[in-house]
Amino acid sequence: MKERVILAIESSCDETAVAITKGGNLLSNAVSSQIAMHQKYGGVMPELASRFHTENIAFTLDTALKDANVSLDEVDAFAVTRGPGLIGALHVGLQAAKTLALIYNKPLIPVHHLAAHIYAAEYVTPLKFPLLAIVVSGGNTELVIMEDHLSFKTIGETKDDAIGECYDKVARVLNLGYPGGIPIDRLAKTGETTYKLPSPALKEGYDFSFSGLKTHVINLVNNTKQRGEELNVANLCASFQKVAIDAIVSKGLKAAQEYNVKQVVIAGGVSANSYLRSEVLDKFPKINIEPAIPPLWCCTDQAAMIAKLANYLFDEGIFANYDLGVDPNWEIEDFRNY
Ligand code: KG4
Repeated sequence: MKERVILAIESSCDETAVAITKGGNLLSNAVSSQIAMHQKYGGVMPELASRFHTENIAFTLDTALKDANVSLDEVDAFAVTRGPGLIGALHVGLQAAKTLALIYNKPLIPVHHLAAHIYAAEYVTPLKFPLLAIVVSGGNTELVIMEDHLSFKTIGETKDDAIGECYDKVARVLNLGYPGGIPIDRLAKTGETTYKLPSPALKEGYDFSFSGLKTHVINLVNNTKQRGEELNVANLCASFQKVAIDAIVSKGLKAAQEYNVKQVVIAGGVSANSYLRSEVLDKFPKINIEPAIPPLWCCTDQAAMIAKLANYLFDEGIFANYDLGVDPNWEIEDFRNY
């Protein structure tokens, strides 16, 4: 039997990405990052992101096809991120995928970006249910329980800023550049946790609030400067990282026990964080839960994860019509509603 070929497109934020799988195996994974273009603004400029996606989509598609040695008429289905993400950015990928599906008369598969982040772990290990997914990125902070494939229940989330956004804003006030996660992670290793900062973990349940922590750090930095006092940047990074990541890990451990999970999956850009990875690797096995830690290339945005999930959606017959629109706020539980 012919092995199914899926071409997947991702454009929800500042990476234009195209990947191709055959029989579920990854043949190519082309990513064109816009980070350098957004750096001077200290964050992603949505309008610019859409324009760069428009410029980059054709050659990224071409690269993915060449790397995979596949031609467009060999593709069995076109998959695309429909949400959540930046509305204009999502539109570019969606229009490209729709056009290809229409021209080649093949199914169009609408893919949920966060669900795909969780499925990226399948490039290293099969998902084992029930599982807890800790989804931490520039736009999201969610604890998701999966009882089986394609079953998602959000049990906790941030009520305001995402953890990655908080890293980026703290890095900005410390002049560490954008994106802020990597420099804070690096400096935190050289510092001590001498600053007392408020925890983003809400007392009850599994929700978080990162805006208080962000504002506290910004005020602390500004007040210290105004008083002409010395700021220990490495110590502040270590203190910030500990309080931010500990909140995620402690709620994750509680949820994992309450829902009796077998596996914990970390997903999204912040899952590249070295302290989060070491804490998950250390703490979850102690309560007999297997950690699934994707390699770094799987953590940030790419289309390999879109293709991985699209293979499961194809099996379920989850195909969209050509009037498909994007949804910047698409909830993970609603991944069948489009
Ligand atoms: O998933 P992602 O690539 O895209 C968005 O959702 O935007 O995540 C990007 C986020 C940024 O906020 C970045 O600062 C953060 O992931 N990040 C990290 C690390 N590497 C990237 N945060 C903490 N530690 C890291 N090592």
